[in-house]
Amino acid sequence: VTETPLEIDTTRPGLARMYDYLLGGSESHPVDRALVDEIAATDPGVFAAARANRDFLIRAVRYLTEEVGIRQFLDIGSGLPTQDNVHAVAQAIASEARVVYVDNDPTITVHAESLVHAEKNIEVVLGDLGRPQEILDAPGVRRLLDFDEPVALLLVAVLHFVPDAEDPWTAVRLLLDALPPGSYLVLSHVSLAELDELAATTDRAFGKRSIELNANRTKAQIGRFFEGLELLEPGLVETTEWRAEQTAPRRVSDMVIYAGLARKN
Ligand SMILES: C[S@@+](CC[C@H](N)C(=O)[O-])C[C@H]1O[C@@H](n2cnc3c(N)ncnc32)[C@H](O)[C@@H]1O
Repeated sequence: VTETPLEIDTTRPGLARMYDYLLGGSESHPVDRALVDEIAATDPGVFAAARANRDFLIRAVRYLTEEVGIRQFLDIGSGLPTQDNVHAVAQAIASEARVVYVDNDPTITVHAESLVHAEKNIEVVLGDLGRPQEILDAPGVRRLLDFDEPVALLLVAVLHFVPDAEDPWTAVRLLLDALPPGSYLVLSHVSLAELDELAATTDRAFGKRSIELNANRTKAQIGRFFEGLELLEPGLVETTEWRAEQTAPRRVSDMVIYAGLARKN
């Protein structure tokens, strides 16, 4: 752990704990579950949507480790440790793979200590995507990652929490500029742009708790995160469509989550 743990507020919903609940984990509190359940009342498929997002992340990490030979991962908006963590997936293929987890939710620091002590080649950093340079300069990042070798930058289901006012496109560009050619971007992003009812429910549920969700971005706006990169097949598609097993269901929820993987040349 490279930063001092902050006070953890369990009277307000926390995004990392909400996502843990969505994935069937046991780290959430009643406030977290209440917000998720409010959205699930309109779309019970949100649990499956979260799972499908996580499965995309796992397939992407497996592909990068096994077929591309990537050995370094910078996972920003990593959430809490769950099953099939990035390091577990990557190190099962290449034991020397190194992973830095970054999240702005102080809940992660609670788990970080035991994780970092128990496992080799892992760092956990408290950091915010709205301040990308601080992430790049963080001691844990500097210690573990070699910026002369390719890095996979994971921004999975996190950019919709960064408001337009913080210009997430520029933040992503700054992070990618720090990585050498042969690096990769793995990205997914919720898009409620064409879903009136679910968008209204979601806005209401988050708005009531003063959490900003920026899921009204269109596919084209999300596609702009890949500008200047080589977007790999099958392009920017729904998580369930991204190199999925033949048998996987195509539509699990009303919620649209676009996913893509691209190479920096
Ligand atoms: C939906 S979870 C995604 C977890 C994981 N990336 C996945 O897709 O399986 C989103 C995570 O992003 C974190 N997050 C939200 N805004 C962030 C920001 N500005 N900087 C860093 N992390 C952020 C939340 O705390 C939460 O843990």
